[in-house]
Amino acid sequence: MSDFPYANQYPIHRELPELGTERTVILEQLQTMSNAEDRTWEGGQCSGTMYCGDHDHYDFLNEAFARFSHVNALQRDMCPSATKFESEIISMTLDMLGAGALDSNPVGLVTSGGTGSITHAVLAYREANAARTSRPNIIKPETAHPAFSKAGHLLGVEVRVAPVDPVTTQVDLDWVKRNIDQHTVALVGSACNYGYGTVDPIGELGQLALEYDTGLHVDGCLGGFLLPFGRQLGFDIPAFDFSVPGVTTISADTHKYGYALKGTSVLCFSNIALRDSQYFYQTDWTGGKYCSPGMDGSRSGGLLAATWAAMVSLGREGYLRYARAIFETSAAMQREVTRHGELRIMGNPSFLFSFTSDDFDIYHVNDFLRTRGWRLNGQQYPNALHMAVTRPQTQPGVVERWGVDLADAVTYAREHASDVAQSSAIYGGVVGGLTDEADSFIKLVMADMMDKQSSIPTEL
Ligand SMILES: Cc1ncc(COP(=O)(O)O)c(C=O)c1O
Repeated sequence: MSDFPYANQYPIHRELPELGTERTVILEQLQTMSNAEDRTWEGGQCSGTMYCGDHDHYDFLNEAFARFSHVNALQRDMCPSATKFESEIISMTLDMLGAGALDSNPVGLVTSGGTGSITHAVLAYREANAARTSRPNIIKPETAHPAFSKAGHLLGVEVRVAPVDPVTTQVDLDWVKRNIDQHTVALVGSACNYGYGTVDPIGELGQLALEYDTGLHVDGCLGGFLLPFGRQLGFDIPAFDFSVPGVTTISADTHKYGYALKGTSVLCFSNIALRDSQYFYQTDWTGGKYCSPGMDGSRSGGLLAATWAAMVSLGREGYLRYARAIFETSAAMQREVTRHGELRIMGNPSFLFSFTSDDFDIYHVNDFLRTRGWRLNGQQYPNALHMAVTRPQTQPGVVERWGVDLADAVTYAREHASDVAQSSAIYGGVVGGLTDEADSFIKLVMADMMDKQSSIPTEL
């Protein structure tokens, strides 16, 4: 699909149309666009992003959403249902993440997504330690999501980036230990990370957190709603939740493997004081006493209703059933990768696996796979491709197609090893064969980002 397929198809609204457009016309346009775009993932060839993929599930969630889409969850006197939905979403998530055993009064917050949960966690650590330090830092593995660096940038928290072992892709614990100081307000570990699908040594990070009296955030944005069920099914996944001593916050995205609509995530806190530290109050405002539990003001009652509906409709049995299919499919797809001596899987992954090649640029493999309709995610340092297995891949025939297409892609890569590959790594996908216009746009955005980055003070 080109970058601007609608440019010649529909009117372009650079300003409000003078007269309104017929609803039927609008709905027809939306239907045409969504039908075309859904075809990019429905066949099971797209990594990540479409976690559930069942249109009847989406229809059900949309119905739940529609009942409360006009409701502002900030006005709780008008919507006690939002209190029910939000507290039950949090309670079910805490239970799933092993908080039942804690006697520290664990609590949570529903946020707008993974980045929202991570940013709120960094804010909570900064605020909870405000009396101790005005120069807070957190230590994250290089593989942890950029959302931590973004949060540090926005909130004035220094982010120390720990290297990872190139073979296991797990964080270098000695480096972490050497770089903790009296201003360290939290360590970070991923379960699992976006790039490689590997889980950091959470137990050891927890010990360090306890030893140095600092927090430990586990980023379960991606794996938080899948790994617990994988563990219950007996897959080889280390403990990463609140059962691990030292873990103080966990982010888990309902809008990923929680199979809810886009726009929600849960941030869990091991204790209420940490959560309350980032509450905002302004009691002297002429508009009235204002308080909000997080950074957002108005929030959608519809998203709370739909998230709650997703969790309650699937239940533990549904999550387990989906998890089994996903883990088994991932294992089968990984077996296809290991058939090729030229390909190397990185670390010890789970439902998301990443592979590279020491024989040729792996982007050649991607160049070919794109011609067969695959959409993998690209990485760099070293170049690698990852596949986050979701429910669309569990459909019959997808693994077999993967095996055939991957074999042909390896042959192609071998034959083109001396050429320059077209693909390049842009977060969320692997871009290849860009139009000049799109290519220069991306370069402009990147250059602008680099300018902004370089103005961040290194010493806070
Ligand atoms: C491990 C991990 N953490 C955080 C995020 C950020 O989540 P979001 O894109 O919902 O903000 C992602 C997104 O893929 C992720 O994979």
